[in-house]
Amino acid sequence: MTTWLVTGGAGFIGSHLCEALLARGDAVRVLDDLSTGKRENLPPGAMLIEGDVADPATVRAALDGVAGCFHLAAIASVERGVTDWLGTHRANLTGAITVFDAARPTRIPVVYASSAAVYGDAATVPIVEAAERHPLSAYGADKLGCELHARVASHVHAIPTVGLRFFNVYGPRQDPRSPYSGVISIFCERIRRGAPIDIFGDGGQTRDFVYVADVVTALVAAMRLAPADAPVFNVCTGTATSVLDLAHTIAELTGTLLDARHRPPRAGEIRDSTGAPALSRRILGLADPLSLRSGLGKVLDWMGGAV
Ligand code: NAD
Ligand code: UD1
Repeated sequence: MTTWLVTGGAGFIGSHLCEALLARGDAVRVLDDLSTGKRENLPPGAMLIEGDVADPATVRAALDGVAGCFHLAAIASVERGVTDWLGTHRANLTGAITVFDAARPTRIPVVYASSAAVYGDAATVPIVEAAERHPLSAYGADKLGCELHARVASHVHAIPTVGLRFFNVYGPRQDPRSPYSGVISIFCERIRRGAPIDIFGDGGQTRDFVYVADVVTALVAAMRLAPADAPVFNVCTGTATSVLDLAHTIAELTGTLLDARHRPPRAGEIRDSTGAPALSRRILGLADPLSLRSGLGKVLDWMGGAV
């Protein structure tokens, strides 16, 4: 039986990936420190090692006998990188290097989560993979660092790696109660019960919201590539949605009146972030992504519908 290691497997995206791998009959080992992840996110059959992805001995033990590693463990919040620069750096970049280093003896493939945050404020949208990378946040800088070290892993140590630059991922199980969670989970949870939402800045900033099942498909497809040249791909839809439009769409879907308060813009905030999906669709063989309205419907269903 093929066994995979999923770091961050008790988190939002990781738990959906574990489910998909188990559903096709593979075995799954998870390394997670449960800092934002939850034991109850893990599907039955996933084996949890509770530990730190930046600890070399823990990671070496976790990698023993696996066919490949999906490296998703990170502090996934741009905002947290502002307040805890060093702490997030340890999880986000030292963690990735620790995984690459531990993969050296067996040269198992590593598919890792990068982020659209590596681009910073791109001159042209939709953003192609070859665009300049000028991260505006510690989080984005560390994700760019992951990509650079993945090149070292491939070129110097012959470890196949694929980096996936996720844009804004959303779906069931994204924790709406964490202030560091994604905007869709926060807005859906609040708007559906008529509670006020905060809009940082004028709400005109745009994001490319990609549904979690489409991200899982991209992760699984990337593991099949086993390339030698450390490629990176956007995982996105190509559709721009402003934060304000998002809020109005959720209000419309839930039949509630929008109560929005404007707050100062966040530090390190990107204005427009929409990806060009052509390359990943071609090389990873991805189908058309789920529409935002359909995906929002799934999130609202998971939350229990409008109240
Ligand atoms: P998440 O917080 O739900 O999952 C991250 C998981 O990593 C959690 O289970 C957490 O407990 C674990 N973790 C954190 N630090 C750890 C450490 N030091 N050792 C072991 N485990 C640790 O977030 P997510 O949204 O599922 O993000 C998964 C990955 O995708 C992250 O690498 C994130 O940076 C990346 N990403 C997410 C998005 C998004 O929109 N959600 C976009 C771009 C990239
Ligand atoms: C998100 C991801 C990050 C990823 C990046 C890639 C999360 C928590 N963060 O960052 O991991 O690398 O996408 O593009 O999923 N907003 C509000 N009100 C709120 C919450 C947010 O107006 O209550 C706004 C933010 O200011 C921002 C937008 O919504 O403009 C999206 O914010 P957020 O969901 O936190 O994600 P990003 O910062 O884009």
